Amino acid sequence: MDDEWICGRLGEDEPWLLGAVNPPVFENSIFAFETAEELGAALKDEDERYVYWRGTNPTVDLAQRKLAALERAERAKCFASGMGAIAATISSLVSAGDHVLVLGAVYGPTTQFLRYLEKFGVTHTHVGDLAGADSAINETTRLLYFESPSYMRYELFDIPAVTAWARSRGLVTVMDNTWATPLFQKPVTMGVDLVLHSLSKYIGGHSDLVGGVVCGPAALVRPIARTEYMLYGAAMSPHDAAKVVKGLRTLPVRMAAHQERALAVAAFLAGHPGVRGVNHPGLPSHPGHELARRQLRGFSGLFSFELDTDDRGAVAEFLDRLRHFRVAVSWGGFESLVNAPALTTEESVRATMGIPVGLIRLSVGLEPAEALIEDLALALKGLRRLA
Ligand SMILES: Cc1ncc(COP(=O)(O)O)c(C=O)c1O
Repeated sequence: MDDEWICGRLGEDEPWLLGAVNPPVFENSIFAFETAEELGAALKDEDERYVYWRGTNPTVDLAQRKLAALERAERAKCFASGMGAIAATISSLVSAGDHVLVLGAVYGPTTQFLRYLEKFGVTHTHVGDLAGADSAINETTRLLYFESPSYMRYELFDIPAVTAWARSRGLVTVMDNTWATPLFQKPVTMGVDLVLHSLSKYIGGHSDLVGGVVCGPAALVRPIARTEYMLYGAAMSPHDAAKVVKGLRTLPVRMAAHQERALAVAAFLAGHPGVRGVNHPGLPSHPGHELARRQLRGFSGLFSFELDTDDRGAVAEFLDRLRHFRVAVSWGGFESLVNAPALTTEESVRATMGIPVGLIRLSVGLEPAEALIEDLALALKGLRRLA
């Protein structure tokens, strides 16, 4: 089954959909049963049977079927946010006294969640590579968590090597695949146990939805669906699931366009004298480029670059000069976005994380590349004058 079919049609020819070309939304919170015995039987299987929307819903199920198929996973469970999926997944895999290895830079709130778990006796260690992981692993280590490309720096990890290392040590691997989308990277095929996404980014694609998903084998996803999903209550709404289904329809064409525009913008920046470096794995100069060719099928529109300045005022002025790129968090929608972590992160945190003052993150949207390049060229001209 090809990805275009999964995005557009999978699960949409069921008799209960009556041939609707846009699947209707089941917005009922409860389902009724003939007898209390039947309800009792359904409650025993609440992650599989339609009982109450906090557990299951047919529209959410449709989104889940498509996402599982795209990730080549047996099951998927959607959540009210990416963080809902991340928190439920990690909680499901650890108990008091356990230890988590975090490989490379990951989304800030993921690290904050791991810090939060310390009050329940779960510890974690950040490592930069497998040699570091070898030194940090101990008999209580249960899971290895990572993103590839990594957060903000877009560093690549050799996924088959990471999963082989983890498997030989009995660890579960969890990977956040939001950057690539399931179209451009399929971690399950490279040995990852559980794959996470924030659906709020490319999969939703229109900055009108917050959602998350975990994909993997039923043996790992079902316990999350039965326990953390039901008890934490970060349930996806059927309306958001319908937006996910709609977003998936155009995901292949949108990703092709994001890729093309972002590569053009990254190449322009890489050749500009006002730029120290560009962190985009699609550029041949990127240290992970060869690896990218092996494990990625494409490149999304999110990357970072470093302005040739250590002056926060110059960075702020650069942002002010941009007309097309709007200053905002998140990414993956139609509109191009810019963010400067040095201006939004506490100075001590920025220094600890090793983020240079001039680091700029761009989410290249779907506007014409020429307009985006012109915008950046004009803003950089201003920066040169300041320097
Ligand atoms: C890489 C990554 N993972 C997870 C998340 C969390 O997703 P959400 O905002 O949907 O909770 C984000 C959000 O920015 C992210 O960038």
